[in-house]
Amino acid sequence: MDFEEFESRVKKCALCGLSKGRTNVVPGEGSYTADVMFIGEGPGKDEDLLGRPFVGAAGKFLTELLGIIGMDREQVYIANVVKCRPPGNRDPLPEEVETCWPYLEEQIKMIKPKLIVTLGRHSMNRFLPGLKISQVHGQPKRYVGIWQEKQIYLPVYHPAVALYDPRKKDIIIEDFKKIPLILKKLNDS
Ligand code: URA
Repeated sequence: MDFEEFESRVKKCALCGLSKGRTNVVPGEGSYTADVMFIGEGPGKDEDLLGRPFVGAAGKFLTELLGIIGMDREQVYIANVVKCRPPGNRDPLPEEVETCWPYLEEQIKMIKPKLIVTLGRHSMNRFLPGLKISQVHGQPKRYVGIWQEKQIYLPVYHPAVALYDPRKKDIIIEDFKKIPLILKKLNDS
């Protein structure tokens, strides 16, 4: 399986009802050899129109956050738990998440990220069930992995929350600053 084949398959997907309302599938984008993978919830309006993840207001803030830690979008990989926009930006339904999950698993197996940063509680709970984001954001967690037995995850708030809660903006920035430190530790060990 290579990325080209993967993307052409996911772009044709009609396994759940979300396929009916989409303009474009949003498979994900970035470096196929990234050390860090960011996983959001699902495409919004702008992402659906362009077929690219995190290109709206939350995406601009994500790009800014990466800049703060000296990284850019080309060196990381950005994906979502579901690849098609839920209508009206509602939360994806559990069955939609389950149907789309094998695509995300395949991406993780191909990229083999050292660190997975979950953006928001829905993404976090898919990997780290039962945790509360208000209690664990910014804390690296070692838990069951997909391409390796144990994976390091960093749960952070969704960048969109900073758009309506400015106090969370500083929290997200501080949590993002942990990313280079965690990567350095993983590379040194
Ligand atoms: N929010 C997400 O969770 N993902 C996107 O791609 C855009 C906004």
